[in-house]
Amino acid sequence: MLPYEHLIIIDKKSKLPIYRQIALSIINAIRNGTLKAGTHLLSSRELARILALHRKTVVCGYEELEAQDWIKIVPRKYVAVSEHIPLLKPQNWGEPSILIPYENDLNIPFRIIEEHKINENTVSHPDIIIDDGYPDVRLSPIDDLLKTYRKLASKKHTIKNANIRTTQGTLKLREELATYLSLTRGLNISGDNILITHGAQISIYLSAQLLLKPSSNIIVGKPNYPVANKTFEEAQSNIIEVNVDEKGINTDMIEKICREKKVDAVYVIPHHHYPTTVTLSVERRIKLLELSKQFSFVIIEDDYDYDYHYTSSPYLPLASSNHNGNVIYIGSFSKLLDPALRIGFMVAPKNFIEQCKAFRKIIDVGGDGYMQNALAFLIKEGELKRHLKKAKKCYHERRDFLDSLLKEKLGQYISYNLPTGGMAVWITLNKELSLEQLQRNESFQIIRTYNELNSFRFGFASMNEQELECAVNEIEKELIKKITYSSDHVK
Ligand SMILES: Cc1ncc(COP(=O)(O)O)c(C=O)c1O
Repeated sequence: MLPYEHLIIIDKKSKLPIYRQIALSIINAIRNGTLKAGTHLLSSRELARILALHRKTVVCGYEELEAQDWIKIVPRKYVAVSEHIPLLKPQNWGEPSILIPYENDLNIPFRIIEEHKINENTVSHPDIIIDDGYPDVRLSPIDDLLKTYRKLASKKHTIKNANIRTTQGTLKLREELATYLSLTRGLNISGDNILITHGAQISIYLSAQLLLKPSSNIIVGKPNYPVANKTFEEAQSNIIEVNVDEKGINTDMIEKICREKKVDAVYVIPHHHYPTTVTLSVERRIKLLELSKQFSFVIIEDDYDYDYHYTSSPYLPLASSNHNGNVIYIGSFSKLLDPALRIGFMVAPKNFIEQCKAFRKIIDVGGDGYMQNALAFLIKEGELKRHLKKAKKCYHERRDFLDSLLKEKLGQYISYNLPTGGMAVWITLNKELSLEQLQRNESFQIIRTYNELNSFRFGFASMNEQELECAVNEIEKELIKKITYSSDHVK
């Protein structure tokens, strides 16, 4: 008899259920030729005795194997390795392993995507993470959302709410969102103009793939949201950078370029431009819309954190103006609730949404219908509005608190303009200091740095006052070290 106690390795500490460990051990033994086709296995009772397990556990393991066609079970007669398993070359008897490690690289050529590294000097376990503008998920009504989710996904509702036809997003969420966007942003749309995505990034990607060809010209701000640039590069389009100043992207420059060459699209982040946090002025908004009509280009309007304004009301999106259907409007719940939710949306003319839907189907069949409907419920019940009111007040206070900390502790080392909204402050270090110094620190990590501009984003929304103070203190300590070191060297 085969030494089943060696053949089947059970690790009681493993997260893998024991019945699956039994199944995997037997599969490995079949694969390496120890158990050949047709070999009779021990009865579940006998195997359970040898392995000192409950018989039901072994039965489950056998059932799993039978479901995968590795064995045949003839009730009350025998259990045998399937006859249809091809005979595999026997291997040397050695330590049988439960899981086959994935050690080797794939040696067949495949496409390599050069990833944009967020921060080259990544600290492995920082005490403090200075993000680039995340919400404080501790304030978000995630519990309420999950309660509804659980209700919708419970057996009673499952069939009714099954995840069908979610390529465009559930009708409930699209309809709720159409009303919400009309009330908050003046968008005159219906659910047919909306595509629900896994966040704003997918909308940028879909727009790039459908609007841009290898020869297309797309204008972006300089500096810009790097992931968007990468997305346009992926579409092999020609990226033309136009400076962003305190009034946003320079529209005179856009006009000049349009007069010289065909521009297919302009990507703008009109509220709190990423990374510099400036808001596109009214005059430039009007001009951009006029240029779009005159030179027939599409505006991809990435309004990723429209909802957070502290000292003034937000400007209505370009998409709410008269734009001849030339604006693709992109939004997200990442900043409103939680980036981990992965729900965003695109608003566009119906014909474009239809094509995005068709393209999306190729890469991603659909979204989580339960979660989308739970979110629709949250919006309908006014919970999102209540949360936004609370979060806005809190983030406003945090922005002002950070402002006072920066002035008090870092005033002599940095310059910045306090943004009127959003979730981050764009900070530039004085010339004599270098960002690398901050990146080397082991106790904190700054997620988004722009070394060529000696600048970084300091997300204030996700940290409470104590956390903000700790982060600023750490930066101050590091900069003092640098100043002391430099002056010691001068002496
Ligand atoms: C300007 C900008 N656009 C798009 C995104 C992507 O957002 P999402 O998490 O919704 O995909 C981000 C994320 O931070 C962003 O900063």
